[in-house]
Amino acid sequence: FTTGATMANFTGLAAARWRLLADAGWNLDRYGLAGAPRIRCFVGQERHDTIDMGLRYLGLGSPTLVPTDDQGRLLADPLDTMLSEGPGPAIVCLQAGNLHSGAFDPFENAIRIARRHGAWVHVDGAFGLWAAAVPELAGLTAGMAQADSWGTDAHKTLNVPYDCGIAIVRDTGALRGAMGLATTSYMVHDAEGPGDPFQKVPELSRRGRGITVWAALRSLGREGVAAQVRGLAGAAARISRRLAEVEGIEVLNDVDYTQVSLAFGDDAITRAVAARLIEDGKVWMSGSHWQGRDVLRVSVSNWSTDADDVDTAVEAVSSAFAAVKSAGN
Ligand SMILES: Cc1ncc(COP(=O)(O)O)c(C=O)c1O
Repeated sequence: FTTGATMANFTGLAAARWRLLADAGWNLDRYGLAGAPRIRCFVGQERHDTIDMGLRYLGLGSPTLVPTDDQGRLLADPLDTMLSEGPGPAIVCLQAGNLHSGAFDPFENAIRIARRHGAWVHVDGAFGLWAAAVPELAGLTAGMAQADSWGTDAHKTLNVPYDCGIAIVRDTGALRGAMGLATTSYMVHDAEGPGDPFQKVPELSRRGRGITVWAALRSLGREGVAAQVRGLAGAAARISRRLAEVEGIEVLNDVDYTQVSLAFGDDAITRAVAARLIEDGKVWMSGSHWQGRDVLRVSVSNWSTDADDVDTAVEAVSSAFAAVKSAGN
């Protein structure tokens, strides 16, 4: 358990760095990074910016950007070509849930290609990893389980309090190698169980984040988690369907998950609608920029979002748009 997805991704990528360098015959613990073989890192053009930050913290430099499609999904063929261009260890970082479109990278294809090139695959699933809990959404996450590591947030889709990311790493040795403490003579150790939690994350002292996650999972159960995620995606679909019917409002993405990106004619109007909405204070949706356009970004993430909230959101956006239009006339 980490502070958030930023550090969960960092943890997965740190394990990747440790394993790839060990396999290349380089003792990272002893010599550090100076003089180590270079690790090539590949990310989709629309990865979350915090991935770059994690790679920077790890001394891996800026990643190579792989082209994406109109929903922000990484394109597998260019990934193949780019991985073929150079020798050396590689990390491929994929995304489950694009923050503007909610889109998921094509895991099956991309992971098969990455494997062929011996790359470590990490998935940033800050809010999207949870789609795997819903049978009807299985198509979005197909193949995702074949990755080596995953980062997600319980403080997003699961709705536990902030400060709760989760790193999942298949290779225990790499995770311990990257994050473990060599000597802690004064502590009581878990010699036979799953290991000490502090051996798996960047921090030593921290609060018991697992407790809130356990409580949420225990009270919701498998069906409850699925219903919660299904509810968020359903609300996003209803908001987008209804707003698409309002003349002058454009839904820019395929709404397959919890995200909706809206435009209202030109960028200036979209920005004005976003500002007006915040001023009205009934709903929070942030202005953003996606694929060359200003957008109003809807991210349905609160478990309690119900049909009334959908009505409130649709009404708030429609009247903010109407107010901006009439102010312009
Ligand atoms: C796709 C994605 N990755 C990473 C992050 C970073 O997560 P956190 O803020 O929990 O560190 C976010 C959102 O903040 C996100 O949406």
